[in-house]
Amino acid sequence: MKARRNSVSAYETALITGASRGLGLALMRRLASSGTRVVGVARDLQALEAAVDALRKTGAEAHAVSADVADKRAVHRIAGVAAAVAGPIDLLIHNASTLGPTPLRLLLDTECEDLEAVLQTNLIGPFRLTKLIAGSMALRGRGTILHISSDAAVSAYPTWGAYSISKAAQDHLGRVLAAELDGSGVRVLGVDPGEMDTRMHAEAMPLADRGSLRRPDEVAESILRLLEKAHEIPNGTRTEAMPWRAA
Ligand SMILES: NC(=O)c1ccc[n+]([C@@H]2O[C@H](COP(=O)([O-])OP(=O)(O)OC[C@H]3O[C@@H](n4cnc5c(N)ncnc54)[C@H](OP(=O)(O)O)[C@@H]3O)[C@@H](O)[C@H]2O)c1
Repeated sequence: MKARRNSVSAYETALITGASRGLGLALMRRLASSGTRVVGVARDLQALEAAVDALRKTGAEAHAVSADVADKRAVHRIAGVAAAVAGPIDLLIHNASTLGPTPLRLLLDTECEDLEAVLQTNLIGPFRLTKLIAGSMALRGRGTILHISSDAAVSAYPTWGAYSISKAAQDHLGRVLAAELDGSGVRVLGVDPGEMDTRMHAEAMPLADRGSLRRPDEVAESILRLLEKAHEIPNGTRTEAMPWRAA
C-alpha cells in the first residue's frame, strides 16, 4: 500500500526519540506520511515495533531502535543503527523525556540521584546523541536539531523542579549549539508543545480535565509547519507550538 502523503517533507531522514506514544509517535507518523524515512527510539520494543509496523503497512519507511537515551552505550547504537538503516540524519528530534518520580515533589524533597537521572534522560543523553549526529549534518551543510521543551523550562512551578531544571538547561544547550553552529547549515530549534493529552501529562496531573488538553496529532501538525520553515527562523529560536510564535 502506498503511503498517504500530507505534503512532501523537506527532510529525507528523521530520528525521533520517544516515538512509541504521545507527541513522538504523532511526529513520527506525520513525518512518515510526508515521505521522510523515519527512525523511532523508545525503551519498550513491543510498543515501538507496533507503531513502526503500522507505518510500514501504509508504505512508509520506518525503523525501530529500542534503547534508553540515558544509557551512554545505547546512544552510540542509536546513531549507528539510524545512519545504517535510513542514511545520514537530516532531522533529529529530542522528544523522549522523563518527569522523574511521581507524584511530583518539592525540590528539597527530591533525591540528588533522582535529579541526576532526570538530567541523564532529558539533557545528557540528548547531548550525547547530538554530538554523534551534528558533525555529519555540518559536513553536509544541512540538518535540523529540535528540542521538545516545556513551559516548565521558563516558569517556576512548585514540585516540577527536576523536570523544569532539565528543560531549562536543554533550552540553553540549544541556544549555545545554535550560536556555535551558525553558518554551518545546521539549525537548532526548541519548541514548547503546550499541554497535551498523553501518558506523561496523566502521570504529572492525574486529575486534569483531559478534554482541555491538546491532541498530540494536532500539536505535531503545528510543529511540522515550523520545521518546514526552519531555514527562515533565526538559529536558536525557541517557540511555542500552538499558536506558533516566538517565546
Ligand atoms: N504532555 C504534555 O502536556 C507536555 C507538555 C510540555 C512538554 N511536553 C514534552 O513533550 C515531549 C513528549 O511528551 P509526551 O507527553 O508525548 O510523553 P509520553 O506520552 O510519556 O511519551 C514519552 C515517550 O518517550 C519514551 N521515553 C521515555 N523515556 C525514555 C528513555 N529514557 N529513552 C528512550 N525513550 C524514552 C517513551 O517510551 P518508553 O517509555 O517505552 O521508553 C515514549 O515513547 C516530552 O519532551 C515532554 O517533556 C509534554
